[in-house]
Amino acid sequence: MSTTATLTQTENDLILRAARGQPTERVPVWLMRQAGRYLPEYGEFKLKHNVGFFDMVKTPSMACEITLQPLRRFNLDAAIIFSDILVIPQVLGMGVDVVEGKGVIFDFLLQTPDDLDKLHQDADVVRDLSYVMDAITMTRHALNGQCPLFGFSGAPWTLMKFMIDGGSHSPLPKARKWLVTYPDASRKLLQLLCEKVVDYLVAQVKAGAQILQVFESCAGELGPDHFAEFSLPYLKDIAYRTKEKLCETGFEPVPMVVFAKDAHFAIDDLSNSGYDVVSLDWTINPTHARRIAGKHVTLQGNLNPCLLYAKEGELKSAVKTMLQRFGTQRYIANLGHGVHKDVNPDNVETFVNAVHMFSEDINAT
Ligand code: CP3
Repeated sequence: MSTTATLTQTENDLILRAARGQPTERVPVWLMRQAGRYLPEYGEFKLKHNVGFFDMVKTPSMACEITLQPLRRFNLDAAIIFSDILVIPQVLGMGVDVVEGKGVIFDFLLQTPDDLDKLHQDADVVRDLSYVMDAITMTRHALNGQCPLFGFSGAPWTLMKFMIDGGSHSPLPKARKWLVTYPDASRKLLQLLCEKVVDYLVAQVKAGAQILQVFESCAGELGPDHFAEFSLPYLKDIAYRTKEKLCETGFEPVPMVVFAKDAHFAIDDLSNSGYDVVSLDWTINPTHARRIAGKHVTLQGNLNPCLLYAKEGELKSAVKTMLQRFGTQRYIANLGHGVHKDVNPDNVETFVNAVHMFSEDINAT
């Protein structure tokens, strides 16, 4: 019997319906980085168990608990498994840690194409990331049908960028320089990452993930031509092959979301790339985005994450404007990027409740 066969049906399936273009009685809402450092209970958990970030990610019971923390506070329409995009470079043999005050630290970075030989190219992501799959299955059971669970992965270019530039801001654009100086090696690396991402996403669905998001967080720095050459083909391949592999193995494909941050120039292409949902950052006007994207795709986003520092009235009015611009159908409310670590959780509550209230009002009129 497959893992998913034993899992409970989901009561609140708003987000799945919105992603598939079916009618919704109100707008579903979740937040990127909804679990983590801005929640006091996350800090307390870390302290109590005296663990680092990746210890929690690699211990399914801990990842499950932290995934559920924001759902206990807020009326969210989705959970997202607590993990990180950098688990793929780890499986390929690069040591990665998150150090307080320093951010993401790699034990080595890729400097020249010869360094590709240092990667464990035959690594089996399904086996080596089984802790993520276990965390997903455990969280599905713990959610007991409350709302759908997101799985996710980094996209090839964003992973390549971290593997070459590291976690902190690189003084030289080394990863972008690779695309120009070593285009063949770049394509080889992107293809390798693409294969791993497909296997990883398929395994997440088999373990119980009901919707998937692919994070191309560093898309904007490519510009239109390099995006078309070094990001979009891999993003498309991931959407098509993930769905195809699921079908071939008797699993129903799940909705897929693409978040290509700052890639305004590609909204048209992204809307025709095999994804059900295009997630937008906050620098684009929703009305403009909808005009470009057309009606056959769901949009997600895109409140400026800094509005979570605003006074209640200002925040609510920004949410109302956002909903009026996006409309209430084929739409999932979210921020334009993750929650910042010094945000007051009460403001996240105001955001979530405002989406509920205004979208029910708009739908009723
Ligand atoms: O959204 C969620 O709630 C799920 C969890 C999640 C995390 N990272 C947890 C995390 C997700 C979806 C990610 C994705 C991720 N990780 C991305 C893509 C999204 C984006 O933000 O653009 C990227 C680029 C990363 C890489 C990464 N991991 C960075 C840049 C950092 C921050 C380093 C720092 O100290 O500032 C991390 C660590 C990380 N990932 C934390 C969390 C909660 C902070 C860990 C801690 O210090 O406790």
